[in-house]
Amino acid sequence: MDPFNVSRRNMLLGTGASLAALGARGIAQTVAPPVAPAGGRALPPPPTPDQIRRLQWWHEAKYGLFIHYGLYSMRARQEWAMEKEAIPIPEYEKYAKQFNPKPGFAREWVKLAKAGGMRYMVMTAKHHEGFCNFDTKLTDYNSVQQGPKRDLVREYVDAARAGGMRVGIYYSLMDWHHPDGAICANDEAARRRFVDYTHGLIRELMTNYGKIDILWYDGGMPLNGAGWEAERMNKMVLDLQPDIVMNNRNLAVGDFSTPEQRILASGNGRAWESCMTLNESWGYDAEDDEWKSPRTIVRNLISCGRDVGNYLLNVGPKGDGTMPEEAVRIITEVGRWLETNGDSIFKSDKCQPWRPSYATFTRTGNTLYMHVHYWPGGDVSLSGLQTKVLSAYMMKGKQAVKFTQDDYRVHITGLPMKAPDSPVTTIAIECESVPTQSLDPELRLAKPRGKVGIEI
Ligand code: GLC
Repeated sequence: MDPFNVSRRNMLLGTGASLAALGARGIAQTVAPPVAPAGGRALPPPPTPDQIRRLQWWHEAKYGLFIHYGLYSMRARQEWAMEKEAIPIPEYEKYAKQFNPKPGFAREWVKLAKAGGMRYMVMTAKHHEGFCNFDTKLTDYNSVQQGPKRDLVREYVDAARAGGMRVGIYYSLMDWHHPDGAICANDEAARRRFVDYTHGLIRELMTNYGKIDILWYDGGMPLNGAGWEAERMNKMVLDLQPDIVMNNRNLAVGDFSTPEQRILASGNGRAWESCMTLNESWGYDAEDDEWKSPRTIVRNLISCGRDVGNYLLNVGPKGDGTMPEEAVRIITEVGRWLETNGDSIFKSDKCQPWRPSYATFTRTGNTLYMHVHYWPGGDVSLSGLQTKVLSAYMMKGKQAVKFTQDDYRVHITGLPMKAPDSPVTTIAIECESVPTQSLDPELRLAKPRGKVGIEI
């Protein structure tokens, strides 16, 4: 749930619909009152200088690998299995005894993230099931005392660091295993114990693994921000990790918003990251074959890039830590595309142009990247560009392309009939000033029209 997300359309139009949507979803109790601009639209607070400092690398990193890995990976029916199938605790705990990730599993993940052109990773240290993939003094339901007899978070952090990846840790506040995890909502003594446990586990994670770049909270149920003592939690984290960035899912304001399974920019310069599954499952599901195509992933990266957001793409490894083959194939193909076209994503500034229908856009400075996803062959056109085009070239092969420009159209011609790149062909259009496209119907109305019929 993210009170600060505003759809791109409503953001551009400034309609009351965005306000109504915000009202309908409600704003968590401890979230600071949103700044109410003239016009009355609710916006998130603008980033503070310290947030701007801490978020700088994160904005540049743009693309990360999200990994849901836990006991549920063995059951292979997604990460909510314990709850949704109402599995009794003793029955579920058997997985903790059997859990046995293969040696070097985390190095394989890092290899994949690198091949995919990703720059950071986020691994579940503890999901809602309550099992800790790390060493802790606070419970024996952890990977060092149970089956693996290894600290999986340590293996992951070490592998990610060695591979030059930024390191993120996912932590679920909600806990289906802990005796106070549910009753803490109605029993103050239980809440006290459970909040101490939660803060204690987070303290261990933020203390024992060196520098952590991202803390990715999740599952802020059943308490609210005040109940979790979320602002105090974040202060503790920042004292231990002064450069870290945190999301908002512990119900404090945090540093960035987390639209889930959709791409939705936040207003007011608020950082945001769209998290999305590569198929339809976060945790491994052996039967889920609804894989997104490489083209869909590239287009999602473009959509995030144009609104200066990040993209966190999830894969659920199998019980032994192996990445599903399809995931490897798709992510690697996107990585190959990024080798050629990465500048158009990683260096993107906020971008306004959006037409035509076979292409989408990103922008860096005065360069507009036209990402043609359905290659029409021969020529492509762009309407209503408000600046002069100086030159244009294909990202793949870097060869210049011919174009003409009048008041209504930039027409790029002499292109091959077959798409030069796959899954998307990108044309860099270098302009005299920041490229914008007219959305003004006047311009379309002013365009000279023909007669009724055509002269023969
Ligand atoms: C959803 C799922 C949860 C998952 C999260 C990731 O909320 O229910 O299991 O961890 O998405 O954003």
